[in-house]
Amino acid sequence: MLTLGIETTCDETGIALVAGTKEILSNQIASQVEVHSVFGGVIPELASRMHTEMFVPLLDRALKDAKVALKDIDLIGVANGPGLLGALIVGLQSAKALSLALNKPLMGINHVEAHLYGAYMSHEEEITFPAIGVILSGGHTALLYMESLGKYRLIGQTVDDAMGEAFDKVAKMMHLPYPGGPEIEKRAIEGNSSRYPLKAGHIKGRPYDFSFSGMKTAVLYTLFGQEGSIERGDLPTTTINDMAASFQNAAIKDVVKKVAAAADEYRCTSIILGGGVTNNRALKNEIKALPFRSYWPSPTLTLDNGAMIAGLAAWKYLNGYPASGLELQPLTRIPFC
Ligand code: KG4
Ligand code: ZN
Repeated sequence: MLTLGIETTCDETGIALVAGTKEILSNQIASQVEVHSVFGGVIPELASRMHTEMFVPLLDRALKDAKVALKDIDLIGVANGPGLLGALIVGLQSAKALSLALNKPLMGINHVEAHLYGAYMSHEEEITFPAIGVILSGGHTALLYMESLGKYRLIGQTVDDAMGEAFDKVAKMMHLPYPGGPEIEKRAIEGNSSRYPLKAGHIKGRPYDFSFSGMKTAVLYTLFGQEGSIERGDLPTTTINDMAASFQNAAIKDVVKKVAAAADEYRCTSIILGGGVTNNRALKNEIKALPFRSYWPSPTLTLDNGAMIAGLAAWKYLNGYPASGLELQPLTRIPFC
């Protein structure tokens, strides 16, 4: 079975072709980071326009790369949310047009769920369930109890910023380029993580929820004072490095502590991770030191991509989930479970 996967939820156009449920024949990604970085964040209107420009050339490239033709496609998977409305519409309408023209079924996919599938499809071996699912991306931060693939219970989520978003915002305060996560990680290697005492938020009675916005404000006040403005000029390199290290360390400590406690409480031996923040080496080292088997997406599947969408669409289709009709709608928010 050949599945076309379409991803246009945010600032990456992703078109992929996947055979079966795991074999990636092509995974084309057009990143818009350079365009948005000038503004320090994603500009939705620009994102939609760039998805429109890139869609057909990227589809052509994926077909050539995979050495298949449009008529060989058996199923079309498309991320129909959560994401930016205009960006979602581009992918969804294109997917519907292809589904209609090729007379092939269409499968709407939850982008956040697909991030977890990214780790699943990166491993040959079967994962032992139940598992704790950990989503750490620019738009989402959540812990899930996974009874199996497709059966989830949300056990915690961020009450304010997503983890990647907090990295991006702290980086922006220090005039580091967008996206901030990789920049913070780079600076943190040179920095002293105990220079600034920072701590992520704790939500009373909700042990697996996250809160990063208080810590973000603490960074702002520490760097610029309570009345200060981030426009106040350049910071010394040591300040940037030490703050990057202190912030990264506090954010990771918080996540690792909650993941470990959740795995213990829910008696899980596996941890499945997804989302852009899983690129972070320090996070990976700390999670890997826990007494659980952790499953990470391969490097090309960490950031937004079409292969995780195609893979999950194929898995769902083969496991009896009904195909979506042409009435499938773009959803800026989708309740995860
Ligand atoms: O999964 P993703 O592409 O986007 C969403 O679906 O939201 O993740 C992008 C996020 C950005 O916030 C970026 O700063 C963060 O992942 N990120 C990192 C690293 N690489 C990417 N955060 C921390 N350390 C990294 N190495
Ligand atoms: Zn994503």
